[in-house]
Amino acid sequence: MSQDIRKERSAIEAFDLIKPNIQRDSVIGIGTGSTTNFFINLLNEAKLHIKGVVCSSITSESLIDNSYDIFSLNEVHAIDFYVDGADEYNDRKELIKGGGGALTREKILANSSNKFICIVDESKHTHLLGKNFPLPIEVIEIARSAISRELMKLGGKPIFRNGFTTDNGNQIIDIHNFPIEIPYDLEATINNIPGVVENGIFAKRKADIIVCATGDEIEIIN
Ligand code: A5P
Repeated sequence: MSQDIRKERSAIEAFDLIKPNIQRDSVIGIGTGSTTNFFINLLNEAKLHIKGVVCSSITSESLIDNSYDIFSLNEVHAIDFYVDGADEYNDRKELIKGGGGALTREKILANSSNKFICIVDESKHTHLLGKNFPLPIEVIEIARSAISRELMKLGGKPIFRNGFTTDNGNQIIDIHNFPIEIPYDLEATINNIPGVVENGIFAKRKADIIVCATGDEIEIIN
């Protein structure tokens, strides 16, 4: 079974999980990435009667068809369900996100949601976040070098994501070789460096539910 089929199965399972709980005033938060795109396809096909959606990126917003109203976060009271992928997850439902560079808006939406459902395939599982996948940090351009020096002091190898600008007009540094022992603490430590907009550790607001497609099965971590 290909990775794409597993991603799609995870999206289908998440869709089936939230569908019975959808109401006419529901707001669904939409993440960013190839797994979330499968969820967007399901949403577009279903033409649900809901209040509308809030998206974490310009790309995701462009994929939502015109059967849904698209709101900014400022226009809604809360997000009922936020559905998004991840680059890595651990057994405590802590995540690394931001491979696609949308981490800041993703974290804002996740934090504003009543239920954060993370859809992944088994390749995303790890016991130690950051060991294999580089941790993305969104930074203000003028602070890039100063932040990189601080990140080296923390033990990582920062690499500037050349030629990439976030939807917020900022830049991304990816920290390689950076196993993260205590994600909750490191998330706060990195965000305390002046010029850091946000980092891709989702530990303070971790996922509520992980829906993971393995070979033949779907694992749901509650
Ligand atoms: C986007 O910035 C990321 O956080 C994505 O959610 C994450 O990279 C997962 O993407 P895929 O579903 O494409 O693996």
